[in-house]
Amino acid sequence: MNEDASARLSRRRLLTGAVGLGAAGLGGAAMAGRALAGNADNLPPHVPEWTRTLGDGVGVRAYGQPSKFEKHVVRRDVQWLTASRESSVSFTPLHELDGIITPNGLCFERHHGGIAEIDPQDHRLIVHGLTDKALMLTLADLKRFPRVNRIHFLECAANSGMEWRGAQLNGCQYTHGMVHCVQYTGVPLKLILEEAGLKPNAKWILAEGADASAMTRSLPLAKALDDCLVATRMNGEMLRPEQGYPVRLVVPGWEGNMWVKWLRRLEVGDQPWQVREETSKYTDLLPDGRARRFTFVMDAKSVITSPSPQAPVAAKGFLVISGLAWSGRGTVRRVDVSLDGGRNWREAKIDGPVLDKACVRFYAETEWNGEELLLQSRAIDDTGYVQPTKDDLRKIRGTNSIYHNNGIQTWRVAPSGEVENVEVG
Ligand code: MTE
Ligand code: CO
Repeated sequence: MNEDASARLSRRRLLTGAVGLGAAGLGGAAMAGRALAGNADNLPPHVPEWTRTLGDGVGVRAYGQPSKFEKHVVRRDVQWLTASRESSVSFTPLHELDGIITPNGLCFERHHGGIAEIDPQDHRLIVHGLTDKALMLTLADLKRFPRVNRIHFLECAANSGMEWRGAQLNGCQYTHGMVHCVQYTGVPLKLILEEAGLKPNAKWILAEGADASAMTRSLPLAKALDDCLVATRMNGEMLRPEQGYPVRLVVPGWEGNMWVKWLRRLEVGDQPWQVREETSKYTDLLPDGRARRFTFVMDAKSVITSPSPQAPVAAKGFLVISGLAWSGRGTVRRVDVSLDGGRNWREAKIDGPVLDKACVRFYAETEWNGEELLLQSRAIDDTGYVQPTKDDLRKIRGTNSIYHNNGIQTWRVAPSGEVENVEVG
């Protein structure tokens, strides 16, 4: 959407007001509350406390942490969702983030047997099966392969899974927070398989994790040779234990379950192994009783991260609507935003990199005067696929599913600025 003249004007007014009048100029209850909660002695014309004393010197913070005023920006979980903490999920605080990169400490976690704490010296990656030779690679061995850097989203197939039967969880952290997007450094899986040498009948790869769940998934060889990575780093530093330290599989655009963490074994075979995670789990039960299986690709999806239930509108006037979009089929070509529950659409502005199987950040600017809004976003990818409405998705898939819910999300903005998760019929 191109910012129109009235929005431009209003922003100028809003900013001028802010300088002159502080909270009152912004006119919003939330902004006013925030300003009043602080210590007036730190506000102009006083000299604030942090100017009157020396701060920590270098070395005090050997590994940097966010400001203590950002303590609320954390992964959160929903206790009633899972029976145990070890087989559970924590969600990315999408409403507190901007740009496309998820900071390492805020990437959602999904474990089936808790976090394995692996001593890298005692870890090996075994490659065997239909290969000319078996490999047993140390971390040092992996470092000797050529490596690449790739930014990709990872979305759990169960993301938005609670929303199949209607609006449920109040916050994009919970409805959409099983996604993160980081830069991985890793060895193309193709190079490792070439090093082992593939037999002519090789067709599938089994990936196995070293955690207590020994997570295993079958991966078609064509995908393995295309763009999969055996990654050791995220956003430059070594993988975090939560994300599979010291080595994980990266399967761009495909369901998160296949991105095996704490990767210890790759077996080459000629057919899928039919393991639990691809027969009982990660299948989609259709209305006629049949189940979709091997639904690897994550279809195009988007969500408005602000405003959203955990990030209400702070003030009337100029409003920046922002969110994330992604597609497991390639790049996001366009994102549209609706303010009226999908009746009218305008094109959002994508800002920042547009990369293959990565998140994009979008913005739509408007003028809000306290009227009710029904905010929606829809992603369109470079194959022409358009993110469907929840109703259209249910027409095909029914409501028995857990996985692969990429329907359009609606947030209702109330006159108070509060936002809630709703559905429009
Ligand atoms: N790998 C192992 N070894 N164990 C697991 O429990 N969970 C899978 C996948 N890989 C899992 C695993 C699931 S379901 C998802 S969605 C992603 O890891 C989550 O990755 P993350 O924790 O880095 O967000
Ligand atoms: Co998952």
